[in-house]
Amino acid sequence: MRETVLTSRDFIYPIFVVEGNNIKEDISSLPGNYHWSVDRLPEVVEQMRQTGVRSILVFGLPNTKDEMGSAAWHEDGVVQQAVRKIKALAPDIWVITDVCMCQYTSHGHCGIIKDGYVNNDETLDYIAKIALSHAQAGANMVAPSDMMDGRIQAIRNRLDENNLERISIMAYSAKYASAFYGPFREAAQSAPQFGDRKTYQMDPANLRQAISEIEADIEQGADIIMVKPALSYLDVIRWARDNFDLPLAAYSVSGEFAMIKAAAEKGWIDEQRVAMEVLTSIKRAGADLLITYYALDACRWIKNG
Ligand code: PBG
Repeated sequence: MRETVLTSRDFIYPIFVVEGNNIKEDISSLPGNYHWSVDRLPEVVEQMRQTGVRSILVFGLPNTKDEMGSAAWHEDGVVQQAVRKIKALAPDIWVITDVCMCQYTSHGHCGIIKDGYVNNDETLDYIAKIALSHAQAGANMVAPSDMMDGRIQAIRNRLDENNLERISIMAYSAKYASAFYGPFREAAQSAPQFGDRKTYQMDPANLRQAISEIEADIEQGADIIMVKPALSYLDVIRWARDNFDLPLAAYSVSGEFAMIKAAAEKGWIDEQRVAMEVLTSIKRAGADLLITYYALDACRWIKNG
């Protein structure tokens, strides 16, 4: 009689790739997640094979940062190398790349700074350039997480001009300016050096704005829409599911994961049961795809359960 059943096909597994060799370093804010160097990615691919997870979302940490985030679109940048490696090891894995500038900029913002502010329109050209370089490296899908207005159109145009019309776009459509990103910013070394992200990410109090952001992304050519974070935004997920036909992803973000981990470590909750309850609730709310640091564990639990 169960209405909502999680399967390994639901999950997208986020990973963090760093430059260097032979690195598999613990991320203290995300227990069980690692900074991987490209040469160690066979281990990730092997774990995906064992658990049945088919999609990966690649985040990169470059060695050098500058005002323009120029390491983000290098042909031999860390994400571009990771994509080529994963595709060589496992052509059947669906490779999605994070397209954003905050890990790559010295100021830690997701765009170009002009007169002390993030300049939306100037950023679009950079975002498009980054997406193109990921697609040229072999990514199946690009996922812009910057939240600049007009980015989906800018990316779609750039990909199409370069005969990459088959590369799809997962749009972080309703991305909130959330305090739940804390552990990620430590993991990705991407905290803004001044100010916050409220000029481009959404106010957690807003639902109507989420609707117009999703509409705009669909109009511009998004193939998958996303709500992020997930747990505090189940109403937004449900609304999106009931009103739009595109596949819907939900990102259960670092703070959601870390809260469960920390409480479980204290012995206050049962990690497996709470994690599966949360993930089931996100799917029940209407998400087709779950982006979660629990992807591998959840699939192991499903198999054993
Ligand atoms: C980059 C980005 C962030 C996350 C994904 N991409 C952080 C932010 O916007 O500050 C957060 C993911 C997580 O918390 O798990 N723009």
